[in-house]
Amino acid sequence: MKFIRTEDYYQMSRAAANIISAQVIIKPDCVLGLATGSTPLGIYKQLIDWYTKGDIDFSNVTTINLDEYKALSPDNDQSYRYFMNENLFNHININKNKTYVPNGLELDEKKACDDYNSIINSVQGIDLQLLGIGHNGHIGFNEPSDCFATETHCVDLAQSTIEANARFFDSYEEVPKQAYTMGIKTIMHAKKILVVASGENKADIIKEAFFGPITPKVPASILQLHPDATIICDNDALQKVSELI
Ligand code: GLP
Repeated sequence: MKFIRTEDYYQMSRAAANIISAQVIIKPDCVLGLATGSTPLGIYKQLIDWYTKGDIDFSNVTTINLDEYKALSPDNDQSYRYFMNENLFNHININKNKTYVPNGLELDEKKACDDYNSIINSVQGIDLQLLGIGHNGHIGFNEPSDCFATETHCVDLAQSTIEANARFFDSYEEVPKQAYTMGIKTIMHAKKILVVASGENKADIIKEAFFGPITPKVPASILQLHPDATIICDNDALQKVSELI
């Protein structure tokens, strides 16, 4: 794993956006695996900025998102489809028909997962997968578990995740308790992995996930085995591992 240390969130976002932009320039028809959460927002802002200046062309790019809440419709402002449209897709020249997010409205779990696996299998592999990390080490919505789930599956969200997400909803009752997420095997098959983390509240999990044992109890720890994983963190997120990198 390669670590890139940055001064702050802004520099973390620029460093990650640079790597994504290089990927799009080197392979204009690449497949980007994209993530939601608050951490990637600065990256998307930077990519929009470079697109607006004419420096990046997304017209041939395909995107596959990690996850979606079950039972939220694309026009619900807390759905991940809505998030991606608002924070990236609506502002760049990507073909929306080539931007994929699991179908939260499909309540038949097997069908929702089979459909998303078929899409993933049809795109010839993810060139670069962007990942944030949850406080309990989840990636996408692969929550701590006794085993690594391989492909797209429906998860019961961990209590800590529901609580962390509650800030985005009007009431706790409205927070979805289930989600569809890409599995660990699919993430590990991406040619490149880019993890971003910022802030001292991520410092403990960065240490546990990337310097502790590899275990499904900390799903992100599996990334230690990926042959091309880059972790970009600001100083605050790296404060517990300064002497290790
Ligand atoms: C959600 C998403 C994850 C994301 C995590 C961390 O649970 N499903 O993909 O990495 O939140 O979010 P944040 O970046 O806001 O800390």
